[in-house]
Amino acid sequence: MTRQRRNRTADDANTPHVAVMAREVVEVLAVHDGGIYVDGTFGAGGYSRMMLQSAHCTVVAIDRDPAVAPIAQSLGREFPDRLHLLSASFGDLAALLPQAGFAMADGVTFDLGVSSMQLDQGERGFSFQKDGPLDMRMGDSGPSAADAVNNLTAEQLADIFFTYGEERRSRVIARAIVTAREQEPIIRTLQLARIVAGALGGAAAASGKHPATRTFQALRIYVNDELRELLRGLQAAEKILKPLGRLAVVSFHSLEDRLVKQFFASRSGVRPGTSRHQPPDDSTLRAPSFKLVWNGAHKPGAAELSANPRARSAHLRAVERTPASAWPDSEAMILPAGTPQSIAEMFGEGS
Ligand SMILES: C[S@@+](CC[C@H](N)C(=O)[O-])C[C@H]1O[C@@H](n2cnc3c(N)ncnc32)[C@H](O)[C@@H]1O
Repeated sequence: MTRQRRNRTADDANTPHVAVMAREVVEVLAVHDGGIYVDGTFGAGGYSRMMLQSAHCTVVAIDRDPAVAPIAQSLGREFPDRLHLLSASFGDLAALLPQAGFAMADGVTFDLGVSSMQLDQGERGFSFQKDGPLDMRMGDSGPSAADAVNNLTAEQLADIFFTYGEERRSRVIARAIVTAREQEPIIRTLQLARIVAGALGGAAAASGKHPATRTFQALRIYVNDELRELLRGLQAAEKILKPLGRLAVVSFHSLEDRLVKQFFASRSGVRPGTSRHQPPDDSTLRAPSFKLVWNGAHKPGAAELSANPRARSAHLRAVERTPASAWPDSEAMILPAGTPQSIAEMFGEGS
């Protein structure tokens, strides 16, 4: 099974990523002189750069992809002693911040998903349009998408495609994968894209999207355990934000946005409507740890959308920390019903 990937170089990170809603994020965080800000998804450093430019602040940047290091080194030279890059997952933020020498933060932001650098490089394995190894890991270790596709049962694969891709024909795709891998292992992105397109036939083409869009999204979320990571990141931000500190999250698909919306609503004391997916929480018993900065999500304006089509599905939500204690961590309240086991658990690697 794939575990370690070749070392990446600075050349791997040369496709520009255009930061989405960066100005709105920096404004809502109210970045000020002397403040400590966490950019939990450094990527090409667009948010970090704008924070460092807008005030004499310090930025603790986190990214689980080691390929961003050269970008951070170069940005760090422009803003000496004010940028600290941690090669880690933002879910570990509550432990990482003190290790980096900071007790609390004035603002935290997460700009979720993959960067253009990751998506545009076929060899990272995220794209159904570029041939490459079926990898999809943002970091450098752990099981890859090929490991999942070649080793999980049809039922496990179908659950992943259904829950993380909201793919209605998940079982048909899973069965096609299991049949195909009996002939030869599925190890390339285009090989998988062809199997999915063949399984869905003409039905998927009518939507205008590539038939493998949802399957690839689902595998990426699964391989990087993105929903649990997001929940861990939100809970960690709640612990390390100072009172009046703000948390701003940009998400790009409904699963993430729903999770952020629900977390913010519950921690702000907004009673959720009844839903079979969401058991009643204990928000009436606890003092709100956040208050909403706005109701609803902000979206990119027309100018940004025409300059950067990748911004089209972005949703920005923001909350402000109250002086109340952080709530206890809880997965069950927030993750969608039927969320598959994590890849680490399924492959017996612990978490
Ligand atoms: C959309 S890009 C961020 C772009 C960035 N805001 C910019 O302006 O360039 C997302 C980045 O977050 C990283 N990432 C995603 N999930 C992460 C996690 N749980 N922990 C740390 N980094 C993560 C990815 O590796 C990727 O580089």
